[in-house]
Amino acid sequence: MKKIILLVDDEADIREILSLFLEDLGYTVVAAENGMDALKLFRKTQPSLVISDIKMPGMDGIELLRKIKLESPDTEFIMITGHGDMELAIISFQGQAADFITKPINVDVLEIALKKVFDKILCRKMLQEYTENLERLIREKTEIQNHLSSLGLMIGSISHGLKGLLTGLDGGMYLVDSGFTKENQPQIQEGWQIVKLTVDRIRKMVLDILYYAKERDLKWETVDILSFSEDIASGIQPKMDIQKITFIKDFDPSIGALEIDPGSIHSALINILENAMDACSRDTAEKQKQVIFGVKQNPDHILFQITDTGTGMDRETREKLFTLFFSSKGSKGTGLGLFISQKIIAQHGGSIHVSSVPGHGSQFIIKIPKTTLNH
Ligand SMILES: Nc1ncnc2c1ncn2[C@@H]1O[C@H](COP(=O)(O)OP(=O)(O)OP(=O)(O)O)[C@@H](O)[C@H]1O
Ligand SMILES: [Mg+2]
Repeated sequence: MKKIILLVDDEADIREILSLFLEDLGYTVVAAENGMDALKLFRKTQPSLVISDIKMPGMDGIELLRKIKLESPDTEFIMITGHGDMELAIISFQGQAADFITKPINVDVLEIALKKVFDKILCRKMLQEYTENLERLIREKTEIQNHLSSLGLMIGSISHGLKGLLTGLDGGMYLVDSGFTKENQPQIQEGWQIVKLTVDRIRKMVLDILYYAKERDLKWETVDILSFSEDIASGIQPKMDIQKITFIKDFDPSIGALEIDPGSIHSALINILENAMDACSRDTAEKQKQVIFGVKQNPDHILFQITDTGTGMDRETREKLFTLFFSSKGSKGTGLGLFISQKIIAQHGGSIHVSSVPGHGSQFIIKIPKTTLNH
């Protein structure tokens, strides 16, 4: 522990004798002859204890005590008072002085006062370290707990998802098996189709889980948003055409460049566009099937708006939308899409806003700030 003492007295003799005495006891002593000098020296040396005469020309001991306590409440102070100056001693205590000694100074009394003060300083330091340690331990424990519970949740959901897929696989294998026994070629083919489809889904699911589990860092690049969006649109256009869905692009031509991780934003947008497409093709109502892909901006954000005239969602679906492995598409969906999309958008400091009317369609608005703070 740093044991620097600032000694303040206008009498040179006292400064000298006390300095020698204190240094003999193993303290480092800095001395000043008045309040102003003492304050400067205090700021420079940051002593843990100040011993000051109370009566000095200019700034007196009480004022010095007040100023120092204001700057550094933990610095201890021993006041040297004249014999019988009880009132001043009381004022010193009121100003948070740790102790007072009277002139003429009895070194034994001083030594006891010093021991008391440094014990107090040591105690406070230990308490502070203990509290900090405790806070750190509590923080670590909470982190571990959160990690474990999300891991548990994840494992539970993965097992649930895999169980469903394995049931699909069993079904396919059964068809193949009995097809062979009965030499029924179409049944073998049907079963084999199911097996291939399910294996595909398992592969996609495992890849998605790996993507999620890796918590990979984003690869930031400055991207021209307009041509980035054009690329996405031309990738999805053929799929829309096959399903006879009108696909409309509504791009703000004045959008410039933005720093994003293009790979991950690309897959987030594709999933949301494919969901919109699925919602249209699953819709049995006789109506125009249409998906609008809007790319807009406001002063602070880029907005990707994906609007479909598909099935829409009931309240339950709306509430579970982003949940890991929630899917209403049976064997055609794993329910990882929006869960991961949301993670990606959040990593960019953005958000996804959903509105939907059952039977009429849904709109997803993805908002990404133009200046991302966390990279
Ligand atoms: N545009 C939409 N219209 C209606 N329902 C939607 C829409 N987007 C998402 N949903 C609902 O949210 C569910 C979850 O979507 P999510 O993308 O996470 O999974 P998924 O599409 O079923 O499977 P995948 O993991 O292959 O993407 C969907 O199954 C569907 O019920
Ligand atoms: Mg999806």
